Amino acid sequence: MTETKVLISEQQVMEKVAELAATLKEEYRDKHPLAIGILKGSFVFMADLIRMMGIPIEIEFVGLSSYGKGATESAGKIKLVQPLKTPVKGRHVLVIEDIVDTGLTLRFLLDYLKRKKPASLKLCALLDKPSRRKIDVPIDYLGFTVPNIFIVGYGLDWDERFRYLRDVCFVEV
Ligand code: XMP
Ligand code: MG
Repeated sequence: MTETKVLISEQQVMEKVAELAATLKEEYRDKHPLAIGILKGSFVFMADLIRMMGIPIEIEFVGLSSYGKGATESAGKIKLVQPLKTPVKGRHVLVIEDIVDTGLTLRFLLDYLKRKKPASLKLCALLDKPSRRKIDVPIDYLGFTVPNIFIVGYGLDWDERFRYLRDVCFVEV
């Protein structure tokens, strides 16, 4: 049985999400932003964030894959497994990500979106694991910086397990 331990409690997460939401609410009021969540890990964070923002916002998802099943190391190759369905040209786009690790996934997506000429393009990430960064990615709105351990819970998984946990936890692998 794989053990998980709490790294950031549900209460700490919710306080941080509320803080981020307050900042984003001011930034995006009257802009009718398009939030693009990266599947699957960001869906819990995104659901809490947009409700706390409490302003009109459009939701989209993209599926990007860099991790093989069961693997905890990025393969380094990014694949668009579920493309965008909404045009982003002229839109205020806010990309929502669970965790920035090597940065390869975000770099790929930000470059892809930039070519579609949004009015603005920003990144909001719940977690940042800077010790693993291979390529520079500007995180405009960040929740927490985490050490180099494998994070699960609050939407994040380990081989599709533990997404349902309310706290941000970690597993020893
Ligand atoms: P890169 O390396 O491209 O990876 O920045 C970002 C994606 O990798 C996944 N990832 C994790 N998922 N716990 C997870 O559950 C982790 O500690 C972790 N580190 C990276 C995640 O899907 C993210 O979108
Ligand atoms: Mg992800």
